[in-house]
Amino acid sequence: MANEKVRIAIIGAGLVSDFHHVPGIRVDDRCELAAVCDPNEQLLNQRKNEWGPAKYTTDYEQIANDPDLDAVIIATPNFTHKDIALACIAGGKHVMCEKPLGVSYAEADEMYQAAKAKGVRHMTAFTYRFAPSMRYLRHLLKSGALGEPRHFRSQRFLDLPETSWGWRQYKKLAGAGDLYDMTTHRIDFAQDLMGPIQSVCGAVKTFVPRDKTADGTPCAPSEVDDWSALIGTFRSGAVGVWEGSTLMKGHHNGGVGFEWAEVNGSEGSAVYQLVDPNYILVGKHGGTMEKSLVPAEFMKPVKSPRNPADGKPSTVFRYDLVFELVSAIVEGRDAVPGFDDGASAQAVADAVLQSYAERRWIDVPSYR
Ligand SMILES: NC(=O)c1ccc[n+]([C@@H]2O[C@H](COP(=O)([O-])OP(=O)(O)OC[C@H]3O[C@@H](n4cnc5c(N)ncnc54)[C@H](O)[C@@H]3O)[C@@H](O)[C@H]2O)c1
Repeated sequence: MANEKVRIAIIGAGLVSDFHHVPGIRVDDRCELAAVCDPNEQLLNQRKNEWGPAKYTTDYEQIANDPDLDAVIIATPNFTHKDIALACIAGGKHVMCEKPLGVSYAEADEMYQAAKAKGVRHMTAFTYRFAPSMRYLRHLLKSGALGEPRHFRSQRFLDLPETSWGWRQYKKLAGAGDLYDMTTHRIDFAQDLMGPIQSVCGAVKTFVPRDKTADGTPCAPSEVDDWSALIGTFRSGAVGVWEGSTLMKGHHNGGVGFEWAEVNGSEGSAVYQLVDPNYILVGKHGGTMEKSLVPAEFMKPVKSPRNPADGKPSTVFRYDLVFELVSAIVEGRDAVPGFDDGASAQAVADAVLQSYAERRWIDVPSYR
């Protein structure tokens, strides 16, 4: 592949592909958008105009079996991820798949085992690992600047309409609600920062029926959680607290919502906020939390082609997902986060559901 571009297919031409996967491909001249797949022909035609030259198809098997394609990005509803990923892996494609990898831990694990056995690069689209202040917080923690890690805390609040969520509100299609959609990212970056989660006690709650679409058309009511929460212990001995909700009135904030993630060590504390991802809050023992700009070397991965000064800060770091996938392919190394991270986060999320159903603490299966 020395002088050739990595030829990427997008499978699922919906919101997230338009928001950051296609822009991520556009800024990286080591790759190109070579094909687009979506069963919605009207959307496919729209994307032809918006995204430009590429092969367009309604059938993902064509992508899986196309020898001219190197990699795929799967950005379809959750229940389709596994079959599409397994077909593309069988066709020898490198795969980035959206979170949650599957509609259960068992599906996610099957995807990881298949990718590992075939030897293709695999990546889970855990976006927030790439936020500048998250990258810097990780550095502070791993370099020992915060001392011994003791507490992890995450709050993710959205103020969404109480109308239908489409496929996202049915268990068979989505797996779970806020837990799989939002909290799963926070489970992932907690494990990246603090190491594996050992045990959880969790709860979920559905408040609203979502039995009408935005234009008032009746639909089957929601089966999934609007709110999810857990407390957990890490194998290191540290502890964590997570809360997420789509119904936090007053936290709309132009669609970005509210996010706060904090680590408290024996020497100091640091905070990442999605609403202000180029800044970090840091405080040392006996002092006060102070806000500062993330140092330049943590604004993006070293060779990432994007200019951190271009675009909306809470959007543009997401383009580094594609940078990581392409870097892993051209450098012949594993992508991070991989399907193993995706499956591991899903093992924790499923333990939260089991914990609430059985009203007890659950030990999370050891993944690594
Ligand atoms: N990483 C993130 O930050 C992030 C953000 C948003 C969404 N997501 C995830 O991305 C995925 C897609 O979310 P979205 O908001 O773009 O949804 P969406 O509903 O806007 O788009 C999904 C698209 O997939 C298409 N599709 C359905 N079945 C298909 C198939 N068999 N082959 C090809 N295309 C198919 C649909 O027609 C639709 O256009 C979900 O898994 C979601 O959890 C991740």
